[in-house]
Amino acid sequence: MALWGGRFSQAADQRFKQFNDSLRFDYRLAEQDIIGSIAWSKALVSVHVLSEQEQQTLEQALNELLASVRHDPAQILQNDAEDIHSWVEQQLIGKVGDLGKKLHTGRSRNDQVATDLKLWCKTEIPYLVIAINHLRQMLVDTAEKHQSAVMPGYTHLQRAQPITFAHWCLAYYEMLTRDVSRLNDTLNRLDVSPLGCGALAGTSYPIDRQQLASWLDFSSATNNSLDAVSDRDYVMELLSDASIGMMHLSRFAEDLIIFNSGEAGFVELSDRVTSGSSLMPQKKNPDSLELIRGKVGRVVGALTGALVTFKGLPLAYNKDMQEDKEPLFDALDTWHACLDMATLVLEDIKINDTKCQESAKQGYANATELADYLVAKGIPFREAHHIVGEVVVYAIAKQKALEELTLAELKTFSPTIDEDVYVILSLESCLAKRSAKGGVAPSQVKSAIIKAKQDLSKNGR
Ligand code: ARG
Repeated sequence: MALWGGRFSQAADQRFKQFNDSLRFDYRLAEQDIIGSIAWSKALVSVHVLSEQEQQTLEQALNELLASVRHDPAQILQNDAEDIHSWVEQQLIGKVGDLGKKLHTGRSRNDQVATDLKLWCKTEIPYLVIAINHLRQMLVDTAEKHQSAVMPGYTHLQRAQPITFAHWCLAYYEMLTRDVSRLNDTLNRLDVSPLGCGALAGTSYPIDRQQLASWLDFSSATNNSLDAVSDRDYVMELLSDASIGMMHLSRFAEDLIIFNSGEAGFVELSDRVTSGSSLMPQKKNPDSLELIRGKVGRVVGALTGALVTFKGLPLAYNKDMQEDKEPLFDALDTWHACLDMATLVLEDIKINDTKCQESAKQGYANATELADYLVAKGIPFREAHHIVGEVVVYAIAKQKALEELTLAELKTFSPTIDEDVYVILSLESCLAKRSAKGGVAPSQVKSAIIKAKQDLSKNGR
């Protein structure tokens, strides 16, 4: 029997019921619905709707239900209740009889679902933060191991300047640090309880909503009942956190796919995270990374979908809003899975130092060094840039690296060039010179690793 049967003389068409019911996905809110219901039962004592005795009976039954749901969440799906709120109420009535029917006094499913979903987000966010922190830790560990692996850094996917694999790892570490801080911002903003807002206009019982909020561990209660039951900003914020986080992971994946290609050969992925081809026996495909790169699509799709669903919705609750859950659950599950997979990929990745170093030496990645060298000798940078451009054209024609040109050859472009240029053109010097904060110099990378380790040990913040 639906919660709202009284006004109806005909049963719902089975096809409508299937279309309308949300239990098959909102069963994930069971724990939150029960915990919210316990708090609500206490509020009902304060306004004399329930006696202490009745409340205790309800609380005990709800706690039993909570334990049973934790033990076997799949049991919920064996039921044809409309949604998780109906299911919890039905189970409660099954346990305590008519007393269970009092629980919904002064409450609506509108403030209830808003509360449940916020409580769910509040438990989910810390799990995501843990997964991000595992990957941050793995990036720092990988950086620490590969501080001397020099490789080309790219802009426009053209070799630009040498970097180290460690510096590359730490770039992703920074992105993921911001992902954590974004989640914490979202968490702070959503930490406001909608319970006690009723259907839309507020509850008609003089409930202390602030106290009710604190029982549920919310930091405060919402200011406006219309807003409280209509607000799903936090869903969209979380989806946007997930989209940005996934965008980071997709870049991470794409970089590694390139580094792992036959053409680059900078890294080798382990057999544990690659798959073979059914036709071509030689192949070892980076499926783990391709899936990470690909899954960003469904997460951004979830964000776009939610924004479009909510755009132009009149206040207050509309059933359209039931469409918030599946994309949210899917996007956060996907993000979590991709974080775990990215961590696994790094776990036993091999770096081919020789291949990295050879490539770093090619592509005139030290051309900026030569320009800076000329600047140090008193030539204005613009002019120096032009001279080096000409040197590069010459070197390409000779199929030589800059450091392979003789001093006589170099002097034809600028007589200021001397024997000391060769030290400047070495990879070591290219790296060491970039010692300002955040640069690729080994000393900077080392201190970045120390700082990251300290931050991670302070609870990952
Ligand atoms: N299943 C609904 C949802 O997810 C619960 C709220 C129902 N409220 C209502 N007035 N029908 O949004």
